[in-house]
Amino acid sequence: MLTVSSSAPPHGDQERPQRDCRFLAVGPDVESSVRATAAQVIAGQEPSAGDDGDFQVFDDPVAGDARDPYPELALARAAHPVQRLEMSNMPHDQAHPVFFVYRYDDILDVLRDGERFSSGHIIELIMGEVMGRYILVGMDNPGHRRYRALVSTAFRRSAQARWEAELIEPVASELIDRFAGRGRAELVGEFTFPYPTKVTAGLLGLPGEDYQQFQRWSTAILNVHSRREQAIAASAQVQDYLAGILSERRRAPRQDLISDLAHAELDGERLTAEEIFSFVRLLLPAGVETTYRSTGNLLYCLLSRPGQLDAVRADRSLIPQAIEEALRFEAPLLNATRLAVRDTVLSGVPIPAGSTIVLMLGAANRDQARWPDPDRFDIFRDPKVHISFGQGPHICLGMHLARAEMRVALNLLLDRLPDLRLDPDGDDPHIRGQVFRSPTSLPVLFG
Ligand code: HEM
Repeated sequence: MLTVSSSAPPHGDQERPQRDCRFLAVGPDVESSVRATAAQVIAGQEPSAGDDGDFQVFDDPVAGDARDPYPELALARAAHPVQRLEMSNMPHDQAHPVFFVYRYDDILDVLRDGERFSSGHIIELIMGEVMGRYILVGMDNPGHRRYRALVSTAFRRSAQARWEAELIEPVASELIDRFAGRGRAELVGEFTFPYPTKVTAGLLGLPGEDYQQFQRWSTAILNVHSRREQAIAASAQVQDYLAGILSERRRAPRQDLISDLAHAELDGERLTAEEIFSFVRLLLPAGVETTYRSTGNLLYCLLSRPGQLDAVRADRSLIPQAIEEALRFEAPLLNATRLAVRDTVLSGVPIPAGSTIVLMLGAANRDQARWPDPDRFDIFRDPKVHISFGQGPHICLGMHLARAEMRVALNLLLDRLPDLRLDPDGDDPHIRGQVFRSPTSLPVLFG
């Protein structure tokens, strides 16, 4: 996903926003920083400011240290719902203006109209080199329709139900086993971060002994914009590795995603090997990092509001609405981009062909025209669809999987860790970031 590392541009007129381009849901050193913090908790120490410093190394280039970008986004949404800035500052094109879009309805219009607003620039820019040519999120029709239909067969409902029972629950349980007897944990390093990588490795049907290597490649690919060469090298290694697995699965299919992709067929057509490799590579930024962050956001939102956490603990049927509210209130990914294919108009603002459009998903999720009192986290509010999974032809393919991972995580943590609560002596855990958002750490006590 192409993202732009800016929250709202200034709503005053002349000042130029500090912007530069970020392409993926990534961050340098994520693994080492969360592990360092976790290791200290295991050793009975509190995470120190130094550890948080490590985390900043990871998060700042992508996310910035924004605790609360929402007041600025609300001002921008009110002052200029479709905001034109004269020079895009985008590496690919400084000549065209860029438009920031803040309102829910306007963003919906753009996302639903793949004819006027293209996603092709996502491949043309950095992503193609690292990920390959067949990156679903960066394709337009007719290629997108065909490719999405083929890969979607692997995400059918029956497969999802099996993944939940046979994979997601055992992965979550096994992670919780490691700290359940300790009475304390740091849930980002010990749980939310490794959780979706393990689920993804399981989905792909990778042999257990290859998991560590897969995790190293995965982290290298996620770190693409801080260590580009390493990401490209890891991407090539993943491809070599997958080539062996793919030819085995073509011969002897199993119940896993690679077998499903290898045998997916539509009107007599099948996916090529390169299409399968590209899809698997995309799962790392698209599925792993977003879910790690959204699971942390859900836990933080509830743990920091004990009344709502108690309500969920007492009545687990509230979990789905808690998940949707957490996704609305604290989206893990705050923007998406498109390119105007031709001259067009959005909410009365003329947009010339070639302009970049930045869709401020986080601003749309707090649009008071849709949600009363939008800056309040309230699992009991009237449910309305949020925009955190996008909409239209590119709507998130993994949204049901992500929801299942969040649901299983919360259920099992509540089952296994009695009286789960934030550690009052924890080092100021909080959600931060202006492009990607998630908690810095989640020090908890239980039992
Ligand atoms: C809470 C977690 C997640 C969030 C917030 C999220 C968000 C998004 C968003 C906003 C898009 C649309 C991007 C655009 O229109 O430019 C998207 C697309 C996509 N997501 Fe997710 N995602 C999540 C989890 C997952 C998971 C678990 C997977 C798969 C394992 C996944 C796979 C994809 C794919 C393949 C696309 C591209 C679909 C297309 O272009 O047709 N996502 N996601």
